[in-house]
Amino acid sequence: MKIFVAGGAGYIGSHTVQELIREGFEVLIFDNFSTGRKELVVGGELVEGDLRDKDSLKKAFSPGSVGAVLHFASLIQVGESFLDPKKYYTHNLLSSLNLLEAAIEAKVKYFIFSSSAAVYGLPKKIPLPESHPLNPINPYGQTKLFVEKILQDYERAYSLKFISLRYFNAAGADPEGRLGEMHEPETHLVPNILLSLLGKKKNFELYGTDFPTPDGTAVRDYIHVTDLAKAHVHALRRLLASPKSEFINLGTNRGHSVLEILKKTEKILGKKISYREKSRRKGDVPILLASKEKAERILGWKPQHSDIETIIKTAWAWHQKTI
Ligand SMILES: NC(=O)c1ccc[n+]([C@@H]2O[C@H](COP(=O)([O-])OP(=O)(O)OC[C@H]3O[C@@H](n4cnc5c(N)ncnc54)[C@H](O)[C@@H]3O)[C@@H](O)[C@H]2O)c1
Repeated sequence: MKIFVAGGAGYIGSHTVQELIREGFEVLIFDNFSTGRKELVVGGELVEGDLRDKDSLKKAFSPGSVGAVLHFASLIQVGESFLDPKKYYTHNLLSSLNLLEAAIEAKVKYFIFSSSAAVYGLPKKIPLPESHPLNPINPYGQTKLFVEKILQDYERAYSLKFISLRYFNAAGADPEGRLGEMHEPETHLVPNILLSLLGKKKNFELYGTDFPTPDGTAVRDYIHVTDLAKAHVHALRRLLASPKSEFINLGTNRGHSVLEILKKTEKILGKKISYREKSRRKGDVPILLASKEKAERILGWKPQHSDIETIIKTAWAWHQKTI
């Protein structure tokens, strides 16, 4: 069965493509390389195209050939989504609507969507279960929630079964060193710490030291990208074996503050990290932790690589290689 992977040349998409190929699936990557990289394409068929261009998208779905769609392609920067919400609503919604339309026309029955913890907004309860109220506090999170609502309506009308995977903080790199994170600009914690150590960024900037958390810095649930990739294979197998739509968190149920990650990185790498304290970024909540109970129960999946040491070591090996 051929799996259509939109955004398969990006960070999480490329790790998932590698995992799908390893598990014997045939893969078609559709990517416009806006943030994706050619060096992250390690296999599968590649179609260079933009999801906002219906014609190139429809051509890529030759009738009857695609069994399922995985949709990673979106703009991902929370801060930018405040500055230019039009860009986010237009890009993320249009891309998703076009991809869904092409999939439905090609009679695809299964769809896996890259959603985010950003759909929850301010947590009323920690760890966050999937049943938590959905009140995104930034335009990026709103676009993810809109797509989740569209998926529900399309399921009712067109019998498209979906799994929406709500990722928490993706981090780390392929343990075999072939793939890793290469965002530009980079807004994520772990690569920014490591890039500052490699001299590729000036001092690391720590946003927010007055959150209501034990050390005042934001607490997040870091999940290794290989665990995320494997969860997609589990989700795909689940949809194929028992087609039922679901919303599922992907996280570890464990939190680490920014300062904790800094200190652990110093210890693991034996290096001193200098940093500058800055005020909180708009749209950042104090603490986000996933309940992973549903992922374990429904997908039969457990994070295996998401301890901080593995995250830091694999990411460090990757960034050293890409200097
Ligand atoms: N990285 C995280 O921590 C995180 C957390 C929660 C959710 N997510 C979601 O996971 C998904 C993947 O994130 P990522 O970190 O791998 O991002 P990424 O930017 O590395 O990957 C996105 C990929 O989509 C492609 N793309 C974007 N727009 C496209 C378009 N219009 N047409 C074709 N291709 C297009 C890009 O070129 C890139 O290869 C995103 O939907 C993101 O919102 C990521």
